Amino acid sequence: MKPIILLLVTVIGVSHPGNYVSANDDSNLLLTNSGPVVLDMPIWFHAELIDYEEGEELEWQWSDDLFHAESIYLNAGTASWNITYDYETYDWYTGRRVVSLNVKKKFAPFIWLPRAKNSTDYTLTTYLNGKVSVVQPNVTLQTLDRISTTNTTNLTAVIHDPRDYMKQRTEMISFSWIINNTVHASCSTPSLIINITDPGDYNIQANVVIELADHVITTTTSTTTTTTTTTTTTPKPSNKTTTTTKPTTTTPTPPPTPPTNVTTTPDPPSPTPPDWKCDGYWPEYGFYRSKAAGSGTYSRSILKLGYFNVKVSASEPITQVNVTGNTWLKHGALLNLSVLCTGSKPWGYCSQIHPGNYNVTGNETCYTPTMTNDCNFPIIHYFRDAGTHTYLLIIQNDVSLKIHPIPIVIYNVDRKPQLSYIIIPVSCSLIVIIIIVFGIAYFIQSRDRYSVEVADFDFGASEDTEYKTLCEQLKEAFTQAIKGQDWDSDDDSKWLNRSQIVERPRILEEED
Ligand SMILES: *[C@@H]1O[C@H](CO)[C@@H](O)[C@H](O)[C@H]1NC(C)=O
Ligand SMILES: *[C@@H]1O[C@H](CO)[C@@H](O)[C@H](O)[C@H]1NC(C)=O
Ligand SMILES: *[C@@H]1O[C@H](CO)[C@@H](O)[C@H](O)[C@H]1NC(C)=O
Ligand SMILES: *[C@@H]1O[C@H](CO)[C@@H](O)[C@H](O)[C@H]1NC(C)=O
Ligand SMILES: *[C@@H]1O[C@H](CO)[C@@H](O)[C@H](O)[C@H]1NC(C)=O
Ligand SMILES: *[C@@H]1O[C@H](CO)[C@@H](O)[C@H](O)[C@H]1NC(C)=O
Ligand SMILES: *[C@@H]1O[C@H](CO)[C@@H](O)[C@H](O)[C@H]1NC(C)=O
Ligand SMILES: *[C@@H]1O[C@H](CO)[C@@H](O)[C@H](O)[C@H]1NC(C)=O
Ligand SMILES: *[C@@H]1O[C@H](CO)[C@@H](O)[C@H](O)[C@H]1NC(C)=O
Ligand SMILES: *[C@@H]1O[C@H](CO)[C@@H](O)[C@H](O)[C@H]1NC(C)=O
Ligand SMILES: *[C@@H]1O[C@H](CO)[C@@H](O)[C@H](O)[C@H]1NC(C)=O
Ligand SMILES: *[C@@H]1O[C@H](CO)[C@@H](O)[C@H](O)[C@H]1NC(C)=O
Repeated sequence: MKPIILLLVTVIGVSHPGNYVSANDDSNLLLTNSGPVVLDMPIWFHAELIDYEEGEELEWQWSDDLFHAESIYLNAGTASWNITYDYETYDWYTGRRVVSLNVKKKFAPFIWLPRAKNSTDYTLTTYLNGKVSVVQPNVTLQTLDRISTTNTTNLTAVIHDPRDYMKQRTEMISFSWIINNTVHASCSTPSLIINITDPGDYNIQANVVIELADHVITTTTSTTTTTTTTTTTTPKPSNKTTTTTKPTTTTPTPPPTPPTNVTTTPDPPSPTPPDWKCDGYWPEYGFYRSKAAGSGTYSRSILKLGYFNVKVSASEPITQVNVTGNTWLKHGALLNLSVLCTGSKPWGYCSQIHPGNYNVTGNETCYTPTMTNDCNFPIIHYFRDAGTHTYLLIIQNDVSLKIHPIPIVIYNVDRKPQLSYIIIPVSCSLIVIIIIVFGIAYFIQSRDRYSVEVADFDFGASEDTEYKTLCEQLKEAFTQAIKGQDWDSDDDSKWLNRSQIVERPRILEEED
């Protein structure tokens, strides 16, 4: 008997070299699982025989290390399996578990030969699996467990729930958050939106309590309404009428809601907190039904707990970078600037030198930053070439990155500056000369006018000035000056008298 089988095997092996020879060494059977898995929840396995050929008859032998085993005859390239470990039996078997799959192929009646095999491992747990994700939507440097104090933080308890198994059965769920023992928040949805504004380390814990029904809960069906749905499905032949009656049949469903009223009172326990709010989505169908029906026959709910925690460190982003110093340098001089910035330590910085004006793209990074705990450092650089340069200073801390371009001008003492040093004084002195020339011209012009006006002083109307006092004479002279526009300038005698008039006061003075 044995030699015959061996012979057969070798013959088949030769005739189908690909299939049999590759059974153990090639990775032709891809086996995956949906783990980790919680007690009472199913885990799914999926297998794919990548070199499956049409027409092959296969036996899929599934087994785990806790005595579950099942053989499935399936002539296809893929197969799946599931196991549920119930709490009562497997409470002591949590930890790493292994599922193996052997695929056998039928070569002849009653002769099944190994085709492929693989195994997969996963973790079986008592508590829910998941983690807390920390997301800040607009922070440029979103690194793990580093948050910026200026932005809103979205904390989410991400529960591992393959195929939405739990979501479809949730009667009640509650997420309570404890942040450094100071903030206590409670939500029925998985996300907490909070502003963490003080820098420092935080210990964030999310405690999840979930109560699951043992069957899929859909929004409309319930143990009592199933009978009504069956009645609505039976008169379906009456086409038009059912479409109109369906909304009316769904409105009768509210009658079961009165019981919810009693149980939903613990639903809104949030006492309107000021600095956080709940967000995200997790369906919750209420557990009135299982209570109503659970007292009776089959509905049984499962309570699961989850504890997730994460440590985050909140830092202030860099908001200001102050650079002081001379950026207009003589060729040969050293650039010497001092930098001051804000934000949480530590800072890392580096620089890039670009010729001309540089346009910041936003993705400049430091590959080997210089680290400092005090953002007060000097920049010293020697520019070999004259001209315009951009000194690009990049400063980053845990939560932010600042790109600060500093335009630097290096001027050459011999040429360019001379030009400007000539043009400015020359143009200045030109302006001065022009001003002086104009000033002189104006002066001359105005002096002429002045002298004319002096000449216009005419005391000629008072020929007999000897008999008047000085005051009277002046008064008369002024009135004459005002009136005297209509003087007869052609009168030469007046011009002749001018010397007398000017001299006369002096004579009067002598007389006095
Ligand atoms: C087993 O399955 C894994 C996951 O699909 C795959 O990476 C691995 O190559 C498989 N091994 C074999 C021997 O088929
Ligand atoms: C597990 O597999 C069986 C058949 O293999 C199927 O009837 C059952 O619905 C599956 N269970 C789940 C939870 O998917
Ligand atoms: C933050 O990001 C959201 C979307 O990611 C956007 O709608 C919002 O305008 C951003 N806010 C700021 C201040 O950039
Ligand atoms: C988020 O932080 C960035 C800088 O890190 C800031 O520009 C932005 O305004 C912040 N957004 C909000 C909504 O505070
Ligand atoms: C939060 O608690 C940790 C230790 O539990 C402590 O080191 C840290 O300083 C606290 N953070 C704040 C902001 O109080
Ligand atoms: C259902 O109604 C549509 C139009 O409303 C009509 O075309 C169709 O024939 C009806 N079917 C039956 C079975 O009455
Ligand atoms: C909820 O139930 C209480 C009695 O438990 C009742 O007084 C109240 O009117 C009900 N509210 C609604 C909205 O039905
Ligand atoms: C967080 O701060 C931003 C801007 O300062 C504000 O718009 C938002 O309402 C705050 N969020 C919460 C939950 O306090
Ligand atoms: C917070 O994250 C959750 C899960 O990713 C998402 O559903 C929710 O919309 C986010 N909320 C905000 C305000 O970004
Ligand atoms: C930067 O300069 C501004 C005004 O010149 C000043 O208000 C600010 O405090 C300075 N910042 C630092 C970090 O020195
Ligand atoms: C920088 O951008 C401006 C306009 O945004 C453009 O005119 C200039 O050519 C750019 N310079 C460089 C060096 O790319
Ligand atoms: C920066 O981003 C631009 C496009 O936004 C891209 O063309 C360029 O290659 C990036 N540079 C680096 C250093 O990643």
